[in-house]
Formats: sequence, C-alpha cells, structure tokens
Amino acid sequence: MNQLGFLRLGAFRIFVLAITTLLISATSSVFGSPCDALKAKPDVWVGGQVNALVLAAHAWYERDSAERAYGVVIDRIASTVRKCALADDKNFRDRYPQFLDLVTTLALARRPDHELGFTVTDETYFAETRQYVEIPAFLLTPAFLRAVSRYETLPQAKAMLRQLNATRSSADQLIFFSYESRHLGTPDNPDSFRRLLIVVPGNADQRTPEKWVQFGITDPGARAHVRNISVVSAVPGPDSTTNVYFKDYFRTYGRTGAITIKGRWELGEGDDNCASCHKSGILPIFPVAGSVIRDELPLVEKVNERFLNYARPRFDKYLDTTKLGPGLGSNVLQISSNQSVQCSECHHPNKLGSLNWPMDRTIISSYIKGGQMPYGFRLTSIERARLYRRLVQDYFAIDEAKPGILKSWLLGKSRTPESP
Ligand code: HEC
Ligand code: HEC
Repeated sequence: MNQLGFLRLGAFRIFVLAITTLLISATSSVFGSPCDALKAKPDVWVGGQVNALVLAAHAWYERDSAERAYGVVIDRIASTVRKCALADDKNFRDRYPQFLDLVTTLALARRPDHELGFTVTDETYFAETRQYVEIPAFLLTPAFLRAVSRYETLPQAKAMLRQLNATRSSADQLIFFSYESRHLGTPDNPDSFRRLLIVVPGNADQRTPEKWVQFGITDPGARAHVRNISVVSAVPGPDSTTNVYFKDYFRTYGRTGAITIKGRWELGEGDDNCASCHKSGILPIFPVAGSVIRDELPLVEKVNERFLNYARPRFDKYLDTTKLGPGLGSNVLQISSNQSVQCSECHHPNKLGSLNWPMDRTIISSYIKGGQMPYGFRLTSIERARLYRRLVQDYFAIDEAKPGILKSWLLGKSRTPESP
C-alpha cells in the first residue's frame, strides 16, 4: 500500500470513529442513560456478556490460575445487573431469567462472607445447620482422637470402632474403612490424601441425619499432623428428596498432647464451595486402586450402595441448583458407531444432580478417564479421552451457530433442567 493509501485509510478510520461516537451519544441522549439503552436492546449486551462468562468459566475449569480473571468477569456483569436494576425490569427478566439466576448465584459466591456459595452467609449457614453436622460425641474421645490422628495407630482407631459396633444395634452399625483419595488433599494440607471414612447411620423415620464423617490421616512418619475432619450429612427432605449439609472441622494439637476440635470457618481458616464438587450431595468413594486393604474392600461397595439411597440431592433452602442450569452431557453423545450416552439420564436434579457450573475438572476427568463413567460402558482409554474432550467442549462452546449447553441455556434457547 502506498503512503497516500495508508493516509486515506487513517482518515477513513477517524471518520468512522467520529460517526460511531455521534451515534452513541445520540442513542444515549434519546434513551437517557446507558442502562436505558441496554434495557431497550438487551440482546447485544447479553450476547457479549454470556460469551465472556462462558469463556471465563471454561478457562477456570481448565486452569486454577484463571480464577481471578473469572472473578473480574462475574463481578463486572453483576455490577451492571445491579446498577441497571435488570432483575426489576420485567422485559429483561422475562427474556433472560436463566442469565439473571446464574449471574446472581455466581456473584454471591464471590463474596468473602459467602465462601460456601450459599444464599445465606457462611455464619448463618453454620448457625442454622449445626444440629445436622455435629461430629458424634463417641468420635471425639481423647483416646480415639489420638489413635485416629496418625497412620501408624489407625488399627487401634479401627479396633475402637469395632468395640463401639459391638454395643450398637444391627441397623446402627458404623461402616468404616481407610483409603487414599485420588482427587484431593485436605484443606490444611494439599499433599495429604489418606482418609478414614466413618458412615454413621441415621434414621429416616425420625429424620435424624445420616453422617459421613471423614478424618484426614497424617502420613506415615510425617511431622505435621493433618488437621481436617469433614462432615456431610443426609436428611430426608420433602418429595423423596435428600437434603445435604456440610461442615469442615480442624483439630488443634496441643503441646501436652491434648487434641481440640473447632469449626474450620470458626477458626478463621476459610471454607470451600462444597456444592461445586458435591453435585450428588454425598459423593461416592472411588479410591486410589490398591489403597484399601482386602478386608475392607466390600465396605467401599457397601457405602457406595448406601449412597444410591440418597436420590434427588438438595441443599435445603441454601442453594437452588436449577439456577445453575443443565449439566455436562445433557445432550446425546455418540461414542462409537453403535454406542451413545447421555450423562443427564442419571445426572439430573431428580436423580444424582446435574454436573453443572461451577464444577471441578479433577473429579469429572477422573471418573471418565478412570473408567467409572459413563456407568456400565466398556471403553478404550482413547475413547474415554475423546469422550471427555467432547463433553467439555459441548458444555462450554460459544460458537454462534452451534452454542454449547451453558450458552444455549443462558440465552433461553434450551429447556431448564428437569427430569428428562
Ligand atoms: C474440589 C472438590 C471438592 C470440594 C470443594 C469439596 N469436596 Fe468433599 N469430597 C470430594 C471428593 C472427590 C470426595 C470423594 C472422596 C475422594 O475422592 O476424595 C469427597 C468426599 C467428602 C466426604 C466423605 C463423604 C463423601 O461425600 O464421600 C466428606 C465428609 C466431604 N467430602 C466433605 C466436604 C465438605 C464439608 C466440603 C466443603 C467445606 C467439601 N467436602 C468440599 C471433593 C470435594
Ligand atoms: C446410567 C446412569 C448413569 C449415566 C448415564 C452416567 N452416570 Fe455418572 N454416576 C452414576 C452413578 C450410579 C454414580 C455413582 C457411582 C459410584 O458408586 O461410584 C455416578 C457417579 C458419577 C460421578 C461422581 C459423582 C458426582 O456426582 O460427581 C461423576 C463425576 C459422573 N458420574 C460423571 C458422569 C458423566 C460425565 C457421564 C456421561 C459421560 C455419566 N456420569 C453418566 C450413574 C450414571
């Protein structure tokens, strides 16, 4: 291009810019404010924000380091929703209810006093649900706490549990085993994978919670003690649903050998968005192969069978997961010429819960690549890797012509999650 041409192009650009600026100021003077302009023509704005949101979520799903950028996007969208009072605008609400629901839910989880991602503050949640998530007193005796704190003394801890079982009725037997997690460390020690899980039966008729109490176990020879103890409890809710409640506790090891226990959050040690991983409420146990001793292998099956009794997981009034939309694999996916799968056949709100955003890549990829999912399929590792890629792609795609599951739903182009 010669110099004159270049200059002309430059002049043309300035001309376009001037016209655009004129148009924009004309628009805002016609409609009064940017909010009025947005409300009069919401499609353009929503389209852009939906793309930004889905891209940011996808990036964070793949890379922990993208969490900050994701936060910026959510906060920015939520701030416009608030400033323009879009939730109070009937036209907007009627057109984009899913978008409003998701943004509001995700923005709340960004607040420092809502680390659990629930509709109430963490403080209120723990105050209101204490009765469901207390660690049973018989697991808090000094002798048991001492034995359960180290790998070396785990057999003693189990012997104590067996003694307890001798005094409990057959319906009330504690089910327990130790294993290594293939998914995550403890909140206080990301390199600690050993666990002792104790399932404490509840009573559905009396609505007493069934408690899954999990102790982090200090590795053999390790100096620093693992502190975490987690509780998830299941309580029968209305309409054959199961309400699930969460709490983490930390042990404090005194110099004299005394071990005290307090809530992790109460100790100022923060908390996690439990529901982002616990889509089915309580999670099945899929341990590292070979990490469970032979005698205890049947117990892994036993607790996983028990898990299947808690259908239709709910988080009480603290989270409405339908506001997070349909999940991964809501569409039918062809695996090979004679096999297809739809994850949402089982992973939907009235069975195991939708695998929707926010979700954890470690768990999803582990279940697919580790051979557990899709349920009952025999696939090669290549087929599994390909299926996983397709599932993630189909969920997060922002292609205008072929939008993915999340984008379609946000734009109101696909049905809300219901039982299929
Ligand atoms: C990053 C994902 C993730 C988060 C966040 C998470 N969990 Fe879990 N949790 C798991 C997985 C996966 C299992 C199944 C055992 C395993 O593979 O480690 C599990 C198992 C458990 C168990 C044993 C019973 C069961 O459901 O299998 C308890 C108790 C528990 N978690 C409590 C909590 C609490 C309380 C929180 C929030 C403070 C929480 N978890 C947050 C992934 C997570
Ligand atoms: C026929 C029913 C069915 C189908 C279809 C199915 N699942 Fe599952 N899914 C289950 C059951 C049952 C469990 C509990 C398994 C256990 O005990 O280990 C489970 C557990 C899981 C878990 C761990 C628990 C949780 O809620 O996070 C993940 C992740 C998962 N499935 C992903 C998938 C994906 C992805 C697909 C589609 C490729 C799929 N599943 C298809 C029945 C199904």
